[in-house]
Amino acid sequence: MLIYTDYSLKDCNTFSINAKADVFVEITSVQDLDTVIKRKKYSEMPRLILGNGSNMLFTKDFKGIVLKNAIKGISTITETDDYIIIKVCSGENFDDVCAYCAKNRYFGPEFLSGIPGQLGGAVVQNIGAYGHELSMFVQEVEYYNFETYEINKLSAADCKFGYRQSIFKTELSDAAFILSATLKLSKGKYNPDISYGNLKDKLADKPILTPIMVRKAVIDTRDEKIPNPKEFGNAGSFFKNPEITESAAKKLKDKFPELKQFNQPNGLVKIPAGQLIDLCGFKQIPDPKVGVAPSNALIMINLGGATGKDVVAYSKKIQKAVKEKFGVKIEPEVVIC
Ligand code: EPU
Repeated sequence: MLIYTDYSLKDCNTFSINAKADVFVEITSVQDLDTVIKRKKYSEMPRLILGNGSNMLFTKDFKGIVLKNAIKGISTITETDDYIIIKVCSGENFDDVCAYCAKNRYFGPEFLSGIPGQLGGAVVQNIGAYGHELSMFVQEVEYYNFETYEINKLSAADCKFGYRQSIFKTELSDAAFILSATLKLSKGKYNPDISYGNLKDKLADKPILTPIMVRKAVIDTRDEKIPNPKEFGNAGSFFKNPEITESAAKKLKDKFPELKQFNQPNGLVKIPAGQLIDLCGFKQIPDPKVGVAPSNALIMINLGGATGKDVVAYSKKIQKAVKEKFGVKIEPEVVIC
């Protein structure tokens, strides 16, 4: 196990921000983690667990130890004619997991294709797209507990999943390093719900659908809307979609009839933050170094040489404009560090 000091994180975050970490170590096993974390000089430092850095914005150097997750492996736990339960290690690239499942006709993750990041981060923030969320498949999550040095397990219910939310962002945010998750996936007859937006346009005329076809349609749709981070640094959606009360939504609809609204099972109404930002005109008003993607105003992009502070300053301008125009508060989805 190699331990680096004063390590540049530029290639470890999709915003390509050149922040440095005091200490950087790649974790390939629970033994690596246990060894590092039990060393007094590291155990007392602030910790940051990093996957692919695809939902992260560094605004300064990280004064502590970065634990870069490289724990790999996918194995089968149980299989019947109808379903399979697989165990996926947290350092697996999530899109590789989606590809593996689609190829083997294990259904569900194909809708989450193309989302950057690793399984660990996917669990922490319960990634979602095209009407599907990771929590729909999770059975159990195994994590290393930094406080007790033990390996603990949580059932899906105990993970307290919500919209881009889990216990790993709240009660366990400092205590847990996710090691793996077990996913229960359907097999057999494939009858996917492709009613979501562009997917319908891309797939409706196909007489037979396979998970590989849905995966391709999802990736094509994402490619149309989300800029390639290698071209323009970005971390996908920068803000979460706000949920407001039904009466607030009605007032908003009267004033802005073009605004899309989606009723949620919890009785609230979800408003697309991308459209709110778009209607404030931000596609037309980039700063020299930061802007929003012309294809999708929810995605903030590094136009070249932006620091994390530049991105945050621009995000605050967006928040202020949205609040002034619509009276709606939008919150970052990206982790600002
Ligand atoms: N819209 C605009 N202008 C824009 C952007 C969006 O008018 O510049 C409108 C769209 O026309 C659409 C609505 O806003 O009617 C919603 O847009 P979209 O379908 O692109 O979805 P989203 O709510 O912006 C969410 C997720 C994405 C996920 C897509 C597809 C969040 C914060 N984001 O975006 O996830 O890929 O749905 O399911 O929930 C991510 O989390 O990083 C991410 C990319």
